[in-house]
Amino acid sequence: MRCRWTGKAAAIIPAVVLAGCQLEGPFGSGSSFSGPERDVASAASGQQVFRYETFGNERFWTDTLRLHAAIQTVDPLTALSVGLKVDADRLPPGFLQSADLTDPATTVELLRRDAVLGVRAQVAGGEIRRLGITCAFCHSTVDNSVGEGIGRRLDGWPNGDLDVGRIVALSPELQDDPEVLSVLTSWGPGFYDPYFNQDGLNDPVVIPPAYGLQGIPLETYTGEGPISYWNAYVAVTQMHGQGDFRQPLLGISIQNSPDLVTHRLPLLLAYQLSLPAPPPPDGSFDADAAADGEAVFAAACASCHVPPTFTDAPTLHAAGETGVDPVYATRGTTGMYRATPLRALWQHSPYFHDGSAPTLEDVVEHYESVLPLFLSPDEKHDLVEFLKSL
Ligand code: HEC
Ligand code: HEC
Repeated sequence: MRCRWTGKAAAIIPAVVLAGCQLEGPFGSGSSFSGPERDVASAASGQQVFRYETFGNERFWTDTLRLHAAIQTVDPLTALSVGLKVDADRLPPGFLQSADLTDPATTVELLRRDAVLGVRAQVAGGEIRRLGITCAFCHSTVDNSVGEGIGRRLDGWPNGDLDVGRIVALSPELQDDPEVLSVLTSWGPGFYDPYFNQDGLNDPVVIPPAYGLQGIPLETYTGEGPISYWNAYVAVTQMHGQGDFRQPLLGISIQNSPDLVTHRLPLLLAYQLSLPAPPPPDGSFDADAAADGEAVFAAACASCHVPPTFTDAPTLHAAGETGVDPVYATRGTTGMYRATPLRALWQHSPYFHDGSAPTLEDVVEHYESVLPLFLSPDEKHDLVEFLKSL
């Protein structure tokens, strides 16, 4: 499907190139440590950036989209139903027991307490005055220890319940733009299209984990660049933070002064590298079968998914090599796909950039249909158990 920003939504693109400062985030930059202490200190302040920094993007979410006005009227049950998550550690004891989850005022109170993952709001007199988003919006969830969508933060875990498009579609500024609304509401939970506002195509991808990134030289499905390159792309062109980003191959040249993004990238990098992939839960796979499956994997898969990271990046692959949809690769700068580093596969489905394989069994059947593998049913079963163990 092809679709372009039109009407009012077209104003959104120029909005990001406007210069001028509105809000400096609450957290300082850098630290004066050096050596290993600096890594620890950087990860700690990187956590603050990851969870709470908006890079001044209130300018977009509040001034341009006026999303704060829409969210003011959303009750917590509705917010949870579009995948927003509540950080129970930000709430005083007894808060949830006595809170009315059908009252929009409770949403505002949760925001005032910084308890909604990835959404930063300034609240005064029971009203949301300004609102922006952080990296945690898409790349965090909770452990549901208190209730569905309510619990302790799990940074780096993709939020597979988050319906970004449906949330953005609440904007009062987009209501007279049916074309854009129909694109946004077509994505569904766990998907986002990080090029839609650049090229107008509707081709969303699965929100991937931001953990287990140690030792991987190229990020994104298409191997666009190292972590900080992609972080800058998203912070400036997608979150609409105030910073600099240039990519001549995509025709992007955005400069904002002061730049609230660039000096925070090293902190963000340190934090992302500090997030390990979560190990599979006890008893979630058959260890004997997985051991047999490892041999199947070594023969059939390891040429591209090279241990220990299970990717051969920086080598990239044409879509035809693995029979995946070619369109997304044409939208970035490489025209190719990176062999996805396999990490915590038990935790995040669906698989492949477009989510075309709902389960690991589907992944194996996909490869069986495009590569000359000729796996027996037992070999397929063992291979799936091995994938669950990663
Ligand atoms: C609106 C949702 C959203 C937000 C906000 C967001 N991301 Fe992402 N992120 C995505 C999607 C979707 C992709 C996949 C894009 C691709 O691979 O082409 C992605 C990819 C990534 C990757 C690459 C993972 C991999 O294995 O290739 C990293 C790392 C990452 N994001 C970190 C961040 C950081 C740090 C921030 C904050 C600056 C951020 N993201 C903000 C949706 C989001
Ligand atoms: C020719 C190289 C190549 C071979 C061989 C290969 N893969 Fe892949 N694999 C890729 C590429 C490229 C992607 C990314 C495709 C996409 O995102 O659409 C990928 C993605 C995946 C994913 C998705 C991971 C995620 O987080 O979404 C899984 C799982 C996977 N491969 C498993 C396997 C298994 C199992 C085998 C062996 C049967 C195998 N691969 C063989 C290149 C390869």
